[in-house]
Amino acid sequence: MPKRKKIALIGAGNIGGELAALCARKELGDVVLFDIADKEGLAKGKALDLEQNGALLGYDCSIKGTSSWDDCAGADVVIVTAGVPRKPGMSRDDLLTINLKIIRNVAENIKAKCPDALVIVISNPLDAMVYEMKKVTGFPRARVVGMAGALDSARFGLFLAHELGCSVKDVRAMVLGGHGDTMVPVTSYCTVYGVPVKTKISKERLDAIVARTRDGGGEIVKLMGTSAYYAPASGAVVMAEAFLHDQKRILPCAVFLDGEYGYKDLYMGVPAVIGGEGIEKVLEIELTTEEKAMLEKSAAAVRELIEASKKL
Ligand code: NAI
Ligand code: 2OP
Repeated sequence: MPKRKKIALIGAGNIGGELAALCARKELGDVVLFDIADKEGLAKGKALDLEQNGALLGYDCSIKGTSSWDDCAGADVVIVTAGVPRKPGMSRDDLLTINLKIIRNVAENIKAKCPDALVIVISNPLDAMVYEMKKVTGFPRARVVGMAGALDSARFGLFLAHELGCSVKDVRAMVLGGHGDTMVPVTSYCTVYGVPVKTKISKERLDAIVARTRDGGGEIVKLMGTSAYYAPASGAVVMAEAFLHDQKRILPCAVFLDGEYGYKDLYMGVPAVIGGEGIEKVLEIELTTEEKAMLEKSAAAVRELIEASKKL
């Protein structure tokens, strides 16, 4: 009998809870919802609530709340949201000092307890956190990936669909680069039912949509006083599902670059194939001169963050 897969969610806060709900509804595997000792009650309470939810919705999986790393041992997938989110007025980079310490601790435990897992990092500042995760665990790049491009692309796609008055299902949108103010919405590859959006939307409107996408996270922080959690959780679950079901999905994700796009020793959002081996391939697509310049600026911003974290 094949055994159910095990998914460890590190951080039982807003995104962690929604991740657990999605993994359960999709029956991706048994879920372990981990948080620090002070928040063990939160992790256990959410887990129990979600197991009871299964009695109503009819899903089969166990959901365990815990503050013990032993319960995470042998996980097939680990999704990391441990850390603090943004408050109004804070940039993702402001989170560096506090979240770096947390990620180092989490990474040591993942290395010890989940040595074969695919690790998906969500904590911010994303590109620096996922870089640190790879550095501390020493896992191959196929098994350490950051979630941001899926979310940023979803936001871009939604705003384009609103502008065009069409279903978001018919829009393909792509955002590359770092998960920060310098992210690169790649308009040259955005299409509505295969038709380039550039031919349907004026430059002025497209520029406004690009600006709103770049500020997509900040817009929600201003409204709620904390950062988004439904779409961020979905972004990571789509990636986990692609791995667990060997779907070979092409998704923009933060991948450790080893010469692709001319960058080395850097995590940044690029289109990648996710299948049963994790990150199976980085796709190198032709970019316009303007997009290349934006990617360069974004890479410089990510590099600055990584250098700053090396000093901490
Ligand atoms: P939250 O505050 O609701 O949850 C974070 C949880 O992490 C808390 O329950 C906290 O106790 C826990 N935690 C802290 N230290 C820990 C440790 N050492 N081990 C395990 N758990 C620990 O925050 P939320 O809203 O879930 O966001 C989580 C992170 O995700 C934040 O850094 C946020 O900025 C980031 N984020 C990233 C996005 C992306 O696209 N990559 C999108 C949205 C948020
Ligand atoms: C977001 O993009 C703040 O990174 C977080 O929603």
